[in-house]
Amino acid sequence: MTLEESFRRLWHELEPIGRNQLTGGYDRFAWTPVDDELRGWFRAQAEQRDMAVVDDRNGNQWAWWGEPGPGAIVTGSHLDSVPDGGAYDGPLGVVSAFLAIDELRAELRVGRQSVAPARPIAVVRFADEEGTRFGVACIGSRLLTGALEPERARGLRDADGVTLADAMRAAGTAPEHLGRDDEALARIGAFVELHVEQGRALVDVPAPVGVATIVRPHGRWRLSFRGEANHAGTTRLADRHDPTLPFAFAVQAARAAAEAAGALATIGKVRVEPGGTNAIAAEVHAWLDARAPDDAALRSIVAKIVTRAERCADQHGVTLEVVKESYTPVVEFDPSLRDRLRKILCARLGAPALASGAGHDAGILAAVVPSAMLFVRNPTGASHTPAETAELDDCITGVRALRAVLEDLAC
Ligand code: GLV
Ligand code: MN
Ligand code: MN
Repeated sequence: MTLEESFRRLWHELEPIGRNQLTGGYDRFAWTPVDDELRGWFRAQAEQRDMAVVDDRNGNQWAWWGEPGPGAIVTGSHLDSVPDGGAYDGPLGVVSAFLAIDELRAELRVGRQSVAPARPIAVVRFADEEGTRFGVACIGSRLLTGALEPERARGLRDADGVTLADAMRAAGTAPEHLGRDDEALARIGAFVELHVEQGRALVDVPAPVGVATIVRPHGRWRLSFRGEANHAGTTRLADRHDPTLPFAFAVQAARAAAEAAGALATIGKVRVEPGGTNAIAAEVHAWLDARAPDDAALRSIVAKIVTRAERCADQHGVTLEVVKESYTPVVEFDPSLRDRLRKILCARLGAPALASGAGHDAGILAAVVPSAMLFVRNPTGASHTPAETAELDDCITGVRALRAVLEDLAC
């Protein structure tokens, strides 16, 4: 079977899991039956390759080629999605990891005998990267590295009030053992995550594959505006405490602050309570996602947005509570690993260096172990939407690039 055929086959196996039949997008959320199917798919892929599967204490899955041990070269990504997400964000890294191992194995085979690489290689599938269900991004990798307190993680609630601890229990995983896993971390010599690009930088170069330099700082804040519910047809405007007004103002303030600072700010998720057409809302909960070129700029735009929203809330007799749900400071990937990857790939692919505006598990791991990322060209730049895509040829180039990297680092 050619690599193209193998890629198509693996992709088609994964394709139906969590697919929204109406939109063609994906709803793959942590600790749900769909997540369980993804877990099963990962396990089956590992077993087909005689790789030992380990589910760690934090819900991450590892598939090992060779004895798990120190100095391992680890690759992989995540399989969960944002609501109505694309097919490539996450899964491309996991599928490419298994195929890169297939390629390397075929190359290392002597006669019928498969020769193991000098260092063990593992494929990892991190739990809950998007943070769609419980609000915090990269929960699996944050717990693994100690960037998220287990007590806080266990108490995170989804939109129905279900805690992460209960969701894990319902999925058959004990939440009591969450937390930094020094044993697992000690095995990682280097982590390389392949990911679809989520912008158009590689289209502009042009190049099929790039290497990450940094992840720009980003975070999520919940803004809860609390006013007073009342009748939409009988309450005079002057008597209202309508939380939708400062909320709407906050959306505009976010855009203005981001524009002025060369940053990005988005309110893409809102809950209006109780949500009656003919009633003034009692509460509006809005989630602000903000990203900037540096930490100081990010702090400054968020402070500006909050100050303006508070002022407006005050004018309407509405209170505003602001909760920082997650924050990732600027990440610089290991320069020597990055340069090594570029050297391996440069001659054939150009492999330009590029910054990431999106967060990744590799960005979380970078604080603890040498980490790097490969990006595969995205022809439209669309991401977090069903329109997200990549050309088959570029995906194949990505697999070959990852194979070359694994060979260089592990053999
Ligand atoms: C992850 O995709 C993010 O939100 O940056
Ligand atoms: Mn994503
Ligand atoms: Mn991703």
